[in-house]
Amino acid sequence: MDLDTPPPDLYGRPRADRFMQRLTAFGDGYSSALGSPLLRRSPRRPQSRPTPPLQLVVAARREVAADVVELRLADPSGGPLPAWQPGAHLRLALPSGRERHYSLCGDPSDRAGYRIAVRRLPEGGGGSVEIHDTLHPGTRLTARRPRNGFAFCAEPAVLLLAGGIGVTPLIPMVHEARSHGLDWQLVLVGRSADTLPYAAELRALDRLRVHLRTDDEHGVPTGAELLARAPHGAAVYCCGPAPMLAAVQQALDASPAASLHFERFGAAPVTDGAPFTLRLGADGPALDVPADRSALDVLREARPDLPYSCHQGFCGTCEVRVLAGRPEHRDRRLSTEQRAAGALLPCVSRAAEGETLVLDV
Ligand code: FES
Repeated sequence: MDLDTPPPDLYGRPRADRFMQRLTAFGDGYSSALGSPLLRRSPRRPQSRPTPPLQLVVAARREVAADVVELRLADPSGGPLPAWQPGAHLRLALPSGRERHYSLCGDPSDRAGYRIAVRRLPEGGGGSVEIHDTLHPGTRLTARRPRNGFAFCAEPAVLLLAGGIGVTPLIPMVHEARSHGLDWQLVLVGRSADTLPYAAELRALDRLRVHLRTDDEHGVPTGAELLARAPHGAAVYCCGPAPMLAAVQQALDASPAASLHFERFGAAPVTDGAPFTLRLGADGPALDVPADRSALDVLREARPDLPYSCHQGFCGTCEVRVLAGRPEHRDRRLSTEQRAAGALLPCVSRAAEGETLVLDV
């Protein structure tokens, strides 16, 4: 999920400095694919004007891999849907009130429907299970207009790396790369072949450029192995779980690749965390937050209904109010005024060692 700086690109954005060309990341707040490059973003951006939610209906549903369901979402009246670019995602409001983000994995030129694919995660927060169990053709739901935090810059040479369901934002990039005659390679990794959604569809496009690598046959790949197919000077677009991204980041300098754009599943590991305490109300119970866990994870053990979505400090769903204590804000969403008024995003924000934050929850 991810915002970049690179080259005078397909969309005419300017080239930024060398560091940002080598590493760009999702989760810094979604901006339009045509919006400002990362270096120009303010960490405390002004709130955008609210737009009315999109009304959608599930038009079709099918299984595309083990525990992966694909939904086609359309306008209930059959009208065209807002345009989007490769890498964009949809923020869906589920019938239960949960909000979840899913990458659009269809054809951007198809304005009649959005395609998303969702892996069932029984141990997750319930969003994927709700989708699998309750969304069927005819179900109505709402969404925000597509936003893009993982924009595709269409560099001349591209390596696309997908971990399992992480293939979804990369599929439109494959089509874009093909249509612009780029030098591209796609590597799909997963536990076994039946867990790789869209593998057959993609292999049918170009068997020489689409490569499958499964743990049961080849073992878990190293970062160097993942990057081995990168054309010289390639831009790498990687979407997958945190360990896969970490392996790729570590191996990047020794690889032929020149830059990395990535989108991570769920929360980033806590870095530079210290233990602190949360108190639930002025007279409520105290919860210890260890150095390596997020405040949201600890809070949800006591308040399982506390909503969340991105886990990365950009959607605002998990916002709580601080009544006392000095928070250490690590999000890129809240304004100075919102922070001064006590807003806190506990999925990423914390406090200094030994501090106690009293929350209005
Ligand atoms: S869950 Fe999105 S900001 Fe916390």
